[in-house]
Amino acid sequence: MNPRLSQPLILSGNKPLGLSLTYRHLPEKDPVKAIQNLSKLFDPQQGILGFGEPLVSSFSKKVPGLRTFPGLSGINCSSPSTQGSLWFLLQGENRSDIFDQTENLSNILGDAFTPDDQIDTFLYAGGKDLTGYEDGTENPGGEKAAEVAIIEGGIGISGSSLVAVQRWVHDLGHFRTHSQRERDNIIGRRQDTNEELAEAPQTAHVKRSAQESYTPFAYMLRRSMPWALNLQQGLEFIAFGKTLDPFENVLRRMMGLDDGITDALLTFSRPVRGGYYWCPPLTGDRLDFRFLLE
Ligand code: HEM
Repeated sequence: MNPRLSQPLILSGNKPLGLSLTYRHLPEKDPVKAIQNLSKLFDPQQGILGFGEPLVSSFSKKVPGLRTFPGLSGINCSSPSTQGSLWFLLQGENRSDIFDQTENLSNILGDAFTPDDQIDTFLYAGGKDLTGYEDGTENPGGEKAAEVAIIEGGIGISGSSLVAVQRWVHDLGHFRTHSQRERDNIIGRRQDTNEELAEAPQTAHVKRSAQESYTPFAYMLRRSMPWALNLQQGLEFIAFGKTLDPFENVLRRMMGLDDGITDALLTFSRPVRGGYYWCPPLTGDRLDFRFLLE
């Protein structure tokens, strides 16, 4: 694994503002020009880019481990697939940065791709979910982060990463009807100290998702960002990995598909979009698309 070849924002973490953008490509248009433009003109310091299976397949290529996000039905819950062709998480310090980057991206992409979905995201209270709980505490750090998220392989693959992007819509009004103790039991940590609850119920999110309770361990590098729009709000869940299996295994257990126990998160939040993407590596300071184009 070579962290120097990975898209820099994957390991460095999120800037204060983001824009999660999904595009689909128009079947009658040739995407090659847009992809070449991206490799010359897209600055990886300004955002993360991922290719979905529909686009990779149109180049008659198969990225190891990349697949289409599955639509799942669990116990009293469901998780839809809204797989796109291209995904970006543009990032900046302020709204002007994001606006300029979005304009720039539209020019780079031309007319081969059309926006399918977009949502503004932000860092809340220094890295909390909108429920007020710290998000990312059990993330692997330092070298472990690169080990978990960055793929080793040949030219054009080494330094790349796979990512799961899943939009959750919270019902915060409902969440707030719970007492502090009940809220802590939903997450499995104390909100005030972030300490893990020794006696958390089996339904608690951190019990369901405990990475070391999976075989093999379900390590992933989470870079989720909250969103709030038109009086709705939630979490743009974003997790990088060498494979998509840790994410999918945890999601399945959260939905009760392992042992019939559903994650208490699902009592106030639900997934409404989902896609899997391959984030290509860098060559110098630009994106390396050799795997697709050669
Ligand atoms: C409504 C959506 C979600 C919210 C609000 C949320 C929030 C949290 C919070 C507050 C924690 C505890 C602190 C931490 O270690 O980060 C946590 C842990 C974690 N979450 Fe989530 N999460 C959500 C969805 C998901 C999904 C969809 C997955 C994967 C499928 C996931 C995987 C994990 C993992 C792996 C941990 C660390 C568990 C451990 O090893 O202790 N989360 N999450």
